[in-house]
Amino acid sequence: MHVVREVTDQLTWIGANDHRLTLFENIHPIPEGVSYNSYVLTGEKTVLFDTVDWDACRQMLENLEYVLNGRDLDYIVVNHWEPDHAASLQEVITKYPNAQIIGNTKGFQLAEQFGFQIDEDKKIVVNEGDVIDVGDHKLTFLFMPMVHWPEAMVTLDLTNGALFSADAFGSFKA
Ligand SMILES: [Fe+2]
Ligand SMILES: [Fe+2]
Repeated sequence: MHVVREVTDQLTWIGANDHRLTLFENIHPIPEGVSYNSYVLTGEKTVLFDTVDWDACRQMLENLEYVLNGRDLDYIVVNHWEPDHAASLQEVITKYPNAQIIGNTKGFQLAEQFGFQIDEDKKIVVNEGDVIDVGDHKLTFLFMPMVHWPEAMVTLDLTNGALFSADAFGSFKA
């Protein structure tokens, strides 16, 4: 069953709230839970921004399928490769093998270390300030190393002003 939240007419939150985990990364107590934030843009092209922790993978896949409503997934932007943001990526790739993956060089290095299988011809490597046209939206990428891993970046949709902020304003609470 899908659980999604419309942000604008073309942007939908498809993440999940985790109230079952007691310790985040087995260290931090999270009595109020934690949210995994994943969004999908359904403009002329479809773009997924980040995924969710493995715990919530199935929920996110159901949400994604519901929002895509039969469309294919064109792009996946990975701002941060920590598992609470990226662990479900491989399942998304398996389900939507045509999607191109947008990330930076350090991010793809981490992806390899984590064991993600991403075809070279599906990778789009971005540098700070690059602008990519995804149909009727323009995306730009701003690096923020060590917020909170070295590869971290944020994505700004220059068309609607949405900022996909990774951990920049991160906190625990569902
Ligand atoms: Fe993080
Ligand atoms: Fe995070």
